[in-house]
Amino acid sequence: MKRTTYAGNVNEQYLDQTVTLDGWIAKKRNLGSLMFIDLRDRAGIVQLVFNEHENPTAFQVAETAKNEFVIEITGEVVARAETEINPDLYTGKVEVHVTSAQILSTSKPVPFEIKDDTNASDDLRLKYRYLDLRRPEMQRGLLVRNRILQATHRYLDQNGFIDIETPDLTASTPEGARDYLVPSRVYPGSFYALPQSPQQFKQMLMGAGFDRYYQIARCFRDEDLRGDRQPEFTQIDLETSFMSAEDIQAVTEGLIKEVMKDAVGYDVKLPFDRITWQESMNRFGTDQPDTRFGMELKDVSDLVADSDFKVFSSAVAAGGQVKAIVVPEGADQYSRKDIDRYTDYVKRFGAKGLAWLKVTADGFSGPIAKFFKDADQVAALEAQTGAQPGDLVLFAADRAKVVADTLGYLRVAIAKEQDLIPADQYNFLWVVDWPLFEYDEGAQRWTAAHHPFTMPNVGDEHYLDEGEDPHKAHAQSYDIILNGLELGGGSIRIHTRELQEKMFRALGFTPESANSQFGYFLRALDYGFPPHGGLAIGLDRFARLLARRGNIRDVIAFPKNSKAIDPLTSAPTPVAPKQLDELGIEVEKSTDK
Ligand code: AMO
Ligand code: AMP
Repeated sequence: MKRTTYAGNVNEQYLDQTVTLDGWIAKKRNLGSLMFIDLRDRAGIVQLVFNEHENPTAFQVAETAKNEFVIEITGEVVARAETEINPDLYTGKVEVHVTSAQILSTSKPVPFEIKDDTNASDDLRLKYRYLDLRRPEMQRGLLVRNRILQATHRYLDQNGFIDIETPDLTASTPEGARDYLVPSRVYPGSFYALPQSPQQFKQMLMGAGFDRYYQIARCFRDEDLRGDRQPEFTQIDLETSFMSAEDIQAVTEGLIKEVMKDAVGYDVKLPFDRITWQESMNRFGTDQPDTRFGMELKDVSDLVADSDFKVFSSAVAAGGQVKAIVVPEGADQYSRKDIDRYTDYVKRFGAKGLAWLKVTADGFSGPIAKFFKDADQVAALEAQTGAQPGDLVLFAADRAKVVADTLGYLRVAIAKEQDLIPADQYNFLWVVDWPLFEYDEGAQRWTAAHHPFTMPNVGDEHYLDEGEDPHKAHAQSYDIILNGLELGGGSIRIHTRELQEKMFRALGFTPESANSQFGYFLRALDYGFPPHGGLAIGLDRFARLLARRGNIRDVIAFPKNSKAIDPLTSAPTPVAPKQLDELGIEVEKSTDK
């Protein structure tokens, strides 16, 4: 016997044909002399029928076999009775009447049922990842990921991009996270770093003249993990020479259009919308806005600057802001308790409270309504926020960052709660004109907002000079946002040594420290580097969004859990003392996992 097709492909077109199928037993139902088995393979599920009277030998195999046994069967494809049709199944109009069967492999009872909507814990799923990956939704996720990759290779090849690999054992790179280090045996005390991205190598490939580079690049970052972060993840990484930021964005849009068509059959409209970083912060309170719904932040500072409500007027007087979001028809839906719950939550952003008003046909109601008695002021606030009778208006009053974080968070949380976000829509958006630097309050110093190789805006170079305010410099960088998530980012790069040295200085490097860490790169810039720029798209995030999964783990075959552990192999593990000896490493103390 030899497999003739996939179980999940057997539909009406196979009627009356004899097929041979290989797969796993997903489900068994015993109806006396009839046995029904759902046979699963990577294409889906088909129903097998074993008849004790017609094929006693095959029936006996079916009786012996248990869930998750691997079997091979041959049988005839027969139409199901009208009443037995399963409209939810691609193979639901047919079944296979088995004439012969054999067990290829047995299975112990599995630790969790292989089905979508599993309630198995994350760690159990990861420990038995090969079983977890048998679940149809997991298979779909990896198939979508594969489509993205295939379309990417095709499109970039057709557009003259050259796939070049860069090293995984390399020197430390400054993308802002901690490095994973690999000790050298030959040079005890020296370490390779795993790349946080191929950034400097792809730039040096531009210096080498390759002009259009790409790579499906594995990146490693030791950082706090969240739903959209893994310690190792994959980028679709591009770099080009002689192209403007707009050119690079246009190529990227073409790539995304191709991917969306191939992976999910979705037609995206080009060009994507484009807003500045400042506008994004003003309107959405975040640099990764979800533009599938409204509820934008409205600045009412001017209207409340003289308010008797001291929370508002004093925030404005202190140089801060008062902003509002409107929850459509929220007046009846949100109780004081609901708002208290949110008030508590937004404290993590530094918010000192959450003021609110309910809009009625004749003015405002709620605890601070007494401060808004003047009809003109009420009308002005309604006009400025767009609030209608029946709406709930939420206010934050503080410095700009706290207001943005608070209302940016509430906007999304409430829209989700109110089901205001169209699930079947993909909104791509460029956020451009970023600040070049951001202030790290913890470390009390300026850091690169994107990375240290980013070109300042034309005319902003002088802000890198000593004595100038680096805060004012903007960058030729751009992020691509999909449905409120940063999908990728890139920039035009610095291509002269002089400017790169200024950049390092502005970041707090001395000439000596810049040289010891980046000397090789600065030297490279001495030798005819072309103007260049590029970007990287997070493949895992892209696949997660297209497969509509909640966590990038679900589109990575063998990911780490939220504690950076792989429960399948138990990595990271202690190693034998002999291995450490060879590396010249002594471990002070081991911490319990
Ligand atoms: P950046 O650091 O913005 O840029 O990374 C690019 C994209 O990679 C994805 N990403 C991640 N995905 C999963 N887990 C992580 N821990 C993680 N970190 C980042 C995001 C992000 O948008 N060298 C530059 C790119 C360039 O300038 O060309 C870079 O790495 O989707
Ligand atoms: P209080 O004056 O502290 O009684 O607060 C009155 C209302 O204003 C309460 O609903 C508080 O949650 C809210 N509030 C307090 N501080 C702020 C702030 N900085 N921004 C927005 N609302 C606030």
